[in-house]
Amino acid sequence: MIRISPSILASDFTRLAEEVEDVVKGGADFIHVDVMDGVFVPNISIGIPVVSSLRKATDAFLDVHLMITKPERYVGEFCDAGADMVVFHVEASEPQDILDAMKTVIEKGKKVGLSVKPKTPATVLLPYLDLVDMVLVMTVEPGFGGQKFMPDMLPKIETIASMLSKLNPDCLIEVDGGIDPETAPLVKKAGANVLVAGSAVFKKADRAAAIEAIRNA
Ligand code: DX5
Ligand code: ZN
Repeated sequence: MIRISPSILASDFTRLAEEVEDVVKGGADFIHVDVMDGVFVPNISIGIPVVSSLRKATDAFLDVHLMITKPERYVGEFCDAGADMVVFHVEASEPQDILDAMKTVIEKGKKVGLSVKPKTPATVLLPYLDLVDMVLVMTVEPGFGGQKFMPDMLPKIETIASMLSKLNPDCLIEVDGGIDPETAPLVKKAGANVLVAGSAVFKKADRAAAIEAIRNA
């Protein structure tokens, strides 16, 4: 089963509730929310108040991707704001703090995901794989929408899929960055089953067609 998670980073923020409703009607499985702090990545986007507002606007599954340093400081607040899954970067803190952040999310009754930047090897995830609900493999350098997909990430997706098949077969594998109907078949073949798409959904007039084009590619 392939899930599509449109990234609201590419949406019209003046009409956020309608934009979300449009992609949910169009078949989106998750709504991907990119949180950037200007420190972990060279860009600033949105934060906790927007997650609270989204929670009031939709019942859709909120897949919240934290590109922030020291996520252990804020994961609890993102859970309380209404995130269904909180995903943060394994590079963003010390190993014990990453574990503590994961445990906070789990204790809040939410799903937890861990993400790796393009230069981070899959093996860095090994200590956490038994606790994680989703691994997010970045297929661009995090920070901006609309970048070009990095095909050299495909072997890493395969490695993670093979590690998870032994250690945590229910764990989802999400990819994020440059996903469109051309790149989607490559990541699916490598083992990804949750596809984030910003530009390839929100920059199209017909969001239902855009989502189906990625899902069925
Ligand atoms: C990048 C973000 C992505 C971004 C994807 O740092 O994590 O979620 O919105 O945008 P596209 O699909 O346009 O590459
Ligand atoms: Zn993202």
